[in-house]
Amino acid sequence: MCGIVGYKGKKNGCEVVLKGLKDLEYRGYDSWGIAALNGDIRIVKDVGKISEISLDNLGLEHSELAIGHTRWATHGGVNKINAHPHFAQGETFALVQNGIVENFQELRGELKAKGHQFTTETDTEVIVKLIEEEQKSNNDLKAATISAFNKLKGRNAIVLIDKETQRIIAIKDGSPLMLGIGENEYILASDISPLLSHTKQVIFLDDKEAVVVNDTYQIFDIVSGEEKEKKVQTIDWDVEQAKKGEYPHFMLKEILEQKHTIKQALVQDPELIQNIAKEINNAFGVYAVGCGTAGKVCLAGTYAFSQIAGKHVNFAFGSEFPNFHHFITSKSLLMAVSQSGETADTLEAIETVKDKHGKVISLVNVMGSSVMRQSEYSLLLNNGPEIAVASTKATTSQLALMILLAYASAGRYDEGMKHLNEVSDKVGEMLGENYLSSLKELAEQIKGSSDIYIIGRGINYAMALEAAIKIQEVSYIHAEGFAGGELKHGPIALISQGMPCIALVANDETKADMLSNAMEIKSRGGYIIGVSPENNEIFDYWIKVPDVGIASPIVNIVPIQLLAYYLSVARGIDPDKPRNLAKSVTVK
Ligand code: G6P
Repeated sequence: MCGIVGYKGKKNGCEVVLKGLKDLEYRGYDSWGIAALNGDIRIVKDVGKISEISLDNLGLEHSELAIGHTRWATHGGVNKINAHPHFAQGETFALVQNGIVENFQELRGELKAKGHQFTTETDTEVIVKLIEEEQKSNNDLKAATISAFNKLKGRNAIVLIDKETQRIIAIKDGSPLMLGIGENEYILASDISPLLSHTKQVIFLDDKEAVVVNDTYQIFDIVSGEEKEKKVQTIDWDVEQAKKGEYPHFMLKEILEQKHTIKQALVQDPELIQNIAKEINNAFGVYAVGCGTAGKVCLAGTYAFSQIAGKHVNFAFGSEFPNFHHFITSKSLLMAVSQSGETADTLEAIETVKDKHGKVISLVNVMGSSVMRQSEYSLLLNNGPEIAVASTKATTSQLALMILLAYASAGRYDEGMKHLNEVSDKVGEMLGENYLSSLKELAEQIKGSSDIYIIGRGINYAMALEAAIKIQEVSYIHAEGFAGGELKHGPIALISQGMPCIALVANDETKADMLSNAMEIKSRGGYIIGVSPENNEIFDYWIKVPDVGIASPIVNIVPIQLLAYYLSVARGIDPDKPRNLAKSVTVK
């Protein structure tokens, strides 16, 4: 996690970096810091959100060379000392890091034994001291930085500014970093958003690459030390997409964008879809893997493949998948699903498959992301930036593509396209003013609840799990999703008078059993909120959704996203930046 920005050019680097960090704030927002060169390097850092800082109260002079960081703490508490950037002895360079140095204890011990003193609890300071140690035998800071970086274990990206040579040195391995190339200016960032208002020309750094930026840039392989030529790519997102516009929150904006984002996701090269379907059909062992919301999409995908294509697709969360490495062979196929394309656990799953020479296909939103680059085939969601921490528009696009792949795998691509385009239209119709108002009212009604249960069966079991995390992460209400049939095996003991229980009742073969499960809850005092195409006397409150067959997860999750949003706002929480979370989870 954490967001990094670096700038070298003629503009005020402090302003560019400050604005860039605000764009990256979703990656972490417990503390922040900026280092700027103006003869000497000056660092300003603090606890809190960078969004609350203006250029005026930053108190840094105009600088053409600056770096900054917005933190999601891993090693060391949230305080000013632990916030990045970190100075080298004598303030000769300042460094920011994204990632975790897995061998930091060992390295810290060795460095202490050599006389280095530590003032923070961070793993970042270990990198700084390691570079200083390397400088003892190699005066060139670039060489010393590369040599130090090569001793780190884990997924990391670092950016430093050097006082003497007035350059930026950056290296990445496992954590994202890209270089925007403007007119006589360069911007380094953890993702595309800080670049958009300056340039659309970008180089996506690959793992084990270093970039040195002064009046121009050079890229090096950190293993061989050789200089490399890299392709400059053009980003097709625009700066407006990354703005909140008239909306109070990104989360609401992104929920409402689903009027058209599902359709955008369906705009794919038909040949590419058919090729992926062929890979799926030819593989021996297909695994759908993702984390958080993307994981729930994968679980839903297993049901879609079963029902539409009669095909068994396995599911595991990214963090759990490597534990199944025993089953992976060169014939295995991993379907990696990720909005950001940078989630460390998903990347580790990919590495597990690559180690056994299996294949990877992916559904990702961020072009040029690590997941995309490591996949044999990739479907881009075409959704523009998703900024709110809780995933919404990416979810329904991923669901649509997953279902489309199931249709394609069954040789029914055209039918799938027709069906999903109709579903997209229906989502558009759902998202009218009245629908929003009714969910806002429901949120007001249940905002004081301490617990909310969500049940679903079949493909909507996955959505019960997704509904629960959506509510948890933005409203802080304890919410749990269950398979309808599992309720009686334990959770039913917790039902109390008036507890809201959301039942996802699709018009499919699970309907009768779902209604029985809802009744079981009602009999024990639960307040039943039915999400269903038809009303039923069991429901105390009915959320109407269109009847869309196997695509029911798409229409069922949309009202829950809205409910979670309104619960968050009603409880006085910022839905875009819920506590303890970050959007792009680049640590294990
Ligand atoms: C974090 C976010 C979730 C997201 C998950 C996976 O936990 O808060 O919203 O679903 O990461 O992210 P990815 O970018 O891989 O989809």
